[in-house]
Amino acid sequence: MQIHVYQNEAEIARAAAALFASLIIKKPDAVIGLATGSTPISTYQELIRLYKDKVVDYARVTSFNLDEYVGLPPTHTQSYRAFMQEQLFDHINIQDTHVPSGIAKDLAAECKRYDQAIVDRGGIDLQLLGIGHNGHIGFNEPNDVFVYNTNVVDLTESTIQANKRNFDSEDQVPRTAVSMGIGSIMQARAIVLIALGKGKAEAIKRTIKGEIDPQMPASILRCHHNVTVLLDKEAASLL
Ligand code: F6R
Repeated sequence: MQIHVYQNEAEIARAAAALFASLIIKKPDAVIGLATGSTPISTYQELIRLYKDKVVDYARVTSFNLDEYVGLPPTHTQSYRAFMQEQLFDHINIQDTHVPSGIAKDLAAECKRYDQAIVDRGGIDLQLLGIGHNGHIGFNEPNDVFVYNTNVVDLTESTIQANKRNFDSEDQVPRTAVSMGIGSIMQARAIVLIALGKGKAEAIKRTIKGEIDPQMPASILRCHHNVTVLLDKEAASLL
């Protein structure tokens, strides 16, 4: 695990975007894994800037997102598909983008299909992750076991509380989501985890210094051979 601490979010965004840019310049048909939430927004702005400056061409890139809320159609403003269109896809020339469906009739089949689609495209070269206050990655919440495949998860109270900021009221926050599993994430050839702010400091401390424990899902990343952790000073403050 390589851990880098930066002065501010803008520096982190440039560092994270540089990892994606160098991959795509070397491998124009790269497969990238993407996240939603507030953490990656500045990185996406940087990836858009690199496209507009003609540094990076996304025409042959494939992307897979980590997760989607169950019950929200892609047209719903709070769906993760809508988020990705707005924050990144609509501003660059990427064509092949994947977000799990949260409205598939058979969600178990959708989970299988999603894992198979990743395999069919040769696996993920570089996966971007944020981290929940409770240590979740994707929506893999603290659990007794690490769940391997893409699966339907019950969101914990802490995640519902954290995500209600994007909805008109708490009861509109979906209680379940489709999420890439821990195994799907760990199969990525490289991973970059970003954490911003004091609120993530405890989860980062337990991820990096605590036990490898499914109750702190991000701790599994210590078993991966190529993880870069980008932190601001606040997120790194308990290390
Ligand atoms: C989002 C995701 C989540 C978020 C995490 C942090 O696709 O998979 O694990 O990365 O909840 O969210 P923010 O960045 O909003 O603090």
